[in-house]
Order: sequence, then structure tokens, then C-alpha cells
Amino acid sequence: MEAHVQLAVNGQAVEVDVEAEMPLLWALRDVLHLTGTKYGCGVGACGACTVHVDGQAVRSCVTPVSAVAGKRVVTIEALGTARRPHPLQAAWIAEQVPQCGYCQSGMLMAAAALLERKPKPSDAEIDEAMSNICRCGTYQRVRAAIKRAAG
Ligand code: FES
Repeated sequence: MEAHVQLAVNGQAVEVDVEAEMPLLWALRDVLHLTGTKYGCGVGACGACTVHVDGQAVRSCVTPVSAVAGKRVVTIEALGTARRPHPLQAAWIAEQVPQCGYCQSGMLMAAAALLERKPKPSDAEIDEAMSNICRCGTYQRVRAAIKRAAG
């Protein structure tokens, strides 16, 4: 069923006319052309598609766009800029985290949500929060960068 959905994306009010069950991922990528959010598995298992919905890390491939009506969505495009990177992005560069890079926007969004609720996470808290999958195995560098950003 077609739905008219109003939401806020990266601080801007937007309206999309899509199938109500369309995953948020495809509304972001194909309708709003925000292609920083990636498609990995499509079943909520890998985390490549992670965005924030009202400040929580959410897997957008298994979130119908109709479920985020009236909510605040933040994507990797609004985490920081080249001139003003988010502390995590600066730490990601310092620790040379990415290898192929495909999963890293999802990693960063998951990490940003973690630091919002736990500014100084323990190793166990990082491991629990960061269930995203990286085929290149950057997990040790991801953890080091989160700890660097946490200070
Ligand atoms: Fe959404 Fe893998 S693409 S969790």
C-alpha cells in the first residue's frame, strides 16, 4: 500500500511517497539519494545499513519507512564533515580503521550511538554494542578508535 510518510532526515523535514513496507534503507538511498548508508545482507544481520532513529542505532534494511514517520533519522552524511569530522571519524582516520570501507558507515553510526549513551564504554560494552560485521576483520581497530574518541 502506498504511504505518504513525513520524517526528519539529517535535520531536514522530508516527505516520501513510497510503499509503506519499503525498508528505510531504500527510501534513504533510492528516494533521498543518501547513498552513504550501505546494503549488506538485507536481513538485519550485518549492520552495514545502520542509521540513527531518534538517537538509537537502527538497521534500516529491516525498518519499514512507515515505522519512522514523524521521527528523526540521522545518516552518515550528517555525522560530521570533512572540515568538522565527528570525534569518531577523526579517531577512525588516526587508527586507520577501514580496509575496503564498505561496512564503515554502519560501524560509525553504531559507535556514535554507543558513545551517546556510554561516553566511556568498557571493552565488554564496545563488544556488546558493536555487533556489525566486517569482512576485512577491522574489529581491533574499530575498538581502538572508539576508545580513542572516548578519550
Ligand atoms: Fe541491514 Fe545487513 S544490510 S543489517
